[in-house]
Amino acid sequence: MTTNVQPIVSDEAYDVEAIRKQFPILKEQIRGKKLVYLDNAATCHKPQVVIDAISNFYSHDYSNVHRGVHTLSERATKKYEDARKKVQQFINAESSDEIVFLRGTTEAINLVAQTFGKANIGEGDEVLITAMEHHSNIVPWQMLCKESGAVLKVAPINEKGELIFDQFEALISDRTKLVSVVHMSNALGTVNPVKKIIDLAHAKNIPVMLDGAQAIPHLAVDVQELDCDFYAFSGHKLYAPSGIGALYVKREILEKMPPWQGGGDMIRTVTFEKSEYNSIPYRFEAGTPNIVDTVALGTALDFVSEIGIEAIAKHEQALLDYATEKALKIEGMRLIGTAEDKGAILSFVLDKVHPHDIGTMLDHCGIAVRAGHHCAMPVMDFFEVPATARASFAMYNTFEEIDILMDGIENLIEVFG
Ligand code: ALA
Repeated sequence: MTTNVQPIVSDEAYDVEAIRKQFPILKEQIRGKKLVYLDNAATCHKPQVVIDAISNFYSHDYSNVHRGVHTLSERATKKYEDARKKVQQFINAESSDEIVFLRGTTEAINLVAQTFGKANIGEGDEVLITAMEHHSNIVPWQMLCKESGAVLKVAPINEKGELIFDQFEALISDRTKLVSVVHMSNALGTVNPVKKIIDLAHAKNIPVMLDGAQAIPHLAVDVQELDCDFYAFSGHKLYAPSGIGALYVKREILEKMPPWQGGGDMIRTVTFEKSEYNSIPYRFEAGTPNIVDTVALGTALDFVSEIGIEAIAKHEQALLDYATEKALKIEGMRLIGTAEDKGAILSFVLDKVHPHDIGTMLDHCGIAVRAGHHCAMPVMDFFEVPATARASFAMYNTFEEIDILMDGIENLIEVFG
C-alpha cells in the first residue's frame, strides 16, 4: 500500500468516526451549525492524504511527463503512470493501456461519440440509451446523430425509476450500433442491470458503454467480469480532485479508434505532410495532461481500497435504508426513485415546498443537499416535477446526520404547512 492512511476499518466494525477525521472540511461550521454534507452525488470531499498528495507532488516531484530525461520528469512520469495502473487495478481492466485519462465522465462520453461514434455510426444507425440518463449521456449522442443522420432511441422507465427491460430489449434492432447506459442514476439512485444489458447486447454484437460516474464510489466495478466495452468515471465523486477522470476501453476497440484531439504526446512523428499517431492510450491524451490531479486520483484510489469498497457500500446501503424508512413516515414527503436495486441517493419532493426552498432552508441548518433537475431534465419530466431535493451519502456520513436531515425536513413541513 502506498498511502500512509492509518487502518480505519476492521473486519468487524466500520469506524465512521475515524474515517471522518481524515476529511478536514467536515469540521467546518455552516451558519453556526455543524456541517452535514449530503451532496456527495454532485461531488464529495477529499481526505487529507489526497490534499497532501497534491501539495507534496508540487513541492517535490512536479515536472512535465513523457518529455524529459531529467530526474524530475522521470519521477513525475512514473507517478503519473502508476496512477494509470491503480485505475486499472481498481476496475480490474486487463491492461493499463486500456485506461485513458481525461477531465471526467462527460469528456469521456464525448470522446467516444466523436471517435468511435463518428467511425462506426452512420445514417439510419441507432444509439440506444435509457430514459434515466444524465445529460452527459444524452447530448453527445444527439450531437453525433445530428451530424451523422443516426437515430437516438430511448428505453423507458417505470414509476419506480427502473428500466423496463422488455421494452429495452424490443428497442434493439439490426441498426443498433451502440448501447450507452448509466450504471447508477444520479437523479434516482437506480442501479441498472448492466450485466444483463451487456449480455443481451453482445449476443447481437453490439458494444456497450457504461456511464459509471455515480456507480464508481458506491459499487465494486470489474470491467472484465461485466465485459463492458467502455466504462467512464470522474475522480471528483471518488474522493479525488475535480478535473480528472478515466475512460476504460477494451483494447481491440481502442486500438481501432481514431484519435480525437491532435497535439503533442499523441503523435510518434510529425511532418508537414502527415503525422503518425502514438500507441494507445497516449494517442488519446494530446497536450500536457492534468498531471497532479491524476497522481492524486491514484492516492484517492489507494485510500478507498484501504477502507474497502464493499465495506463502504455496506455502510452507505445501511444509511440509505435508514433514511428511506424515516422518509416514508413523513407525511407530505414523496420519494422520487424507489427502485429495488438502488444506491445511496434519496431524491424527494415535499407537497408544499419547492425543492429550491428545501435546499435553502436546510442550508440554514448546516445541511447541504442539492436541489434542481440534477442534469437529468427528462427524468424530471417523467415524474412531472420541476426539480427534486436530493440527499446523497458517502463513506463519511452518519445515522445522526440522517436524523438531523429528517428533523430539518419535518420542521420545514411545519413552517410551510
Ligand atoms: N452530475 C452531478 C450531480 O448529479 C453534478 O449533481
